[in-house]
Amino acid sequence: MERAPDKRIPLCKPFLPKRSLAYLADTLESGAMGGDGPHGAWCEDFIRERIGAAMALLTNSASSALDIACALAGLAPGDEVVMSSFTFASTASAVVKTGATPVFVDIDPATLDLDVDACEAAITERTRAIIAVHYAGQSRDIEALAALADARSIRLIEDAAQAFDSRKSGRALGTFGALAAFSFQQSKNLAVGEGGALIVNDARLVERARHLRDKGTDRHEMQVGAKPFYSWVEIGAGCQMPEPLAALLRGQLEQADFITAQRGRLWRRYHRNLRAMKIPLSLRQTKIEEESGSNYHLFHVICDDASTRAPLMNYLSERGISSAFHFIPLHSSPAGARYGRTVGALPVTDSVSAGLLRLPLFVGLTEGDVDHICETIGDFFAT
Ligand SMILES: Cc1ncc(COP(=O)(O)O)c(C=O)c1O
Repeated sequence: MERAPDKRIPLCKPFLPKRSLAYLADTLESGAMGGDGPHGAWCEDFIRERIGAAMALLTNSASSALDIACALAGLAPGDEVVMSSFTFASTASAVVKTGATPVFVDIDPATLDLDVDACEAAITERTRAIIAVHYAGQSRDIEALAALADARSIRLIEDAAQAFDSRKSGRALGTFGALAAFSFQQSKNLAVGEGGALIVNDARLVERARHLRDKGTDRHEMQVGAKPFYSWVEIGAGCQMPEPLAALLRGQLEQADFITAQRGRLWRRYHRNLRAMKIPLSLRQTKIEEESGSNYHLFHVICDDASTRAPLMNYLSERGISSAFHFIPLHSSPAGARYGRTVGALPVTDSVSAGLLRLPLFVGLTEGDVDHICETIGDFFAT
């Protein structure tokens, strides 16, 4: 069945509850547009309590939160950080900004998590941290990675950009490492355009985290009445989330259970439909999704034969269905080759990156849309 062009199905679409728009209108009316306003404070308290962290600080992106996390972890030139190559550029960029070197290792084919054995084998006397990336908003191996980091006395940082509201063994992703980053960028489950949060689980880092986020100043101390004025105390950057975006985020956080439930319903429908079809696509990660408290950030398939991905994407696109792939592995990207080090070959990363395809998933997509997308995929393989 062909769809009219105006019915094109996007890959993702932010969910904007009425309350978000009301909070935004209040904020614009009040003229208080900077960071650290009442909606921002509400969001930080809500996130901290919901996940059980020492502190949540809203930022203008997960990228900024990762920059601050790497600085707080004390990374310096000569240090190494073991991480996945199957991630967004910001994960490695944050490391390189400190002068440290990202060391890329392979991922587990079933979970797309950092391969724990490969991670352990890559640790040297220079290793100062491990960064775990919770691809698609989930992790099977975060406890093993936390135990490894602990045993070697190195920091664990969680790139939880995709993982707000996900859990492992009942504990929120973002609370296993000393530091973590969430994203509220356009394509995420909670989306305000550009935005994020730095999560601090090590209480000793709380005060410095604020300074680094607040342009290197101790302005917060002045705001809470602990000092008569503020001054420059650190090398920082302007990483706060403006209040209008915090207003949008507040409305979404109030609906967090609804958002996760809706995404889960659609996710399970995709899974059930595609599992019943005899087509050469792998549905990986699905076991962890079913076992853990996933936020259902992505629904993706992996083409058994990578050469079918581009024609499948074209076929879907011609029929009004958006799809996307990622990531171009960092170890084979220009900056990755310049600034990083790769341990051996990364065959799983290369093959997943070549075959993975994301399908539309957002609140507002209907079960009928999901059926239509799955049928169209079936038609592609039948022709
Ligand atoms: C794994 C991962 N890390 C970091 C980021 C960067 O997030 P932001 O766009 O909020 O800076 C993203 C964004 O998509 C991501 O997927």
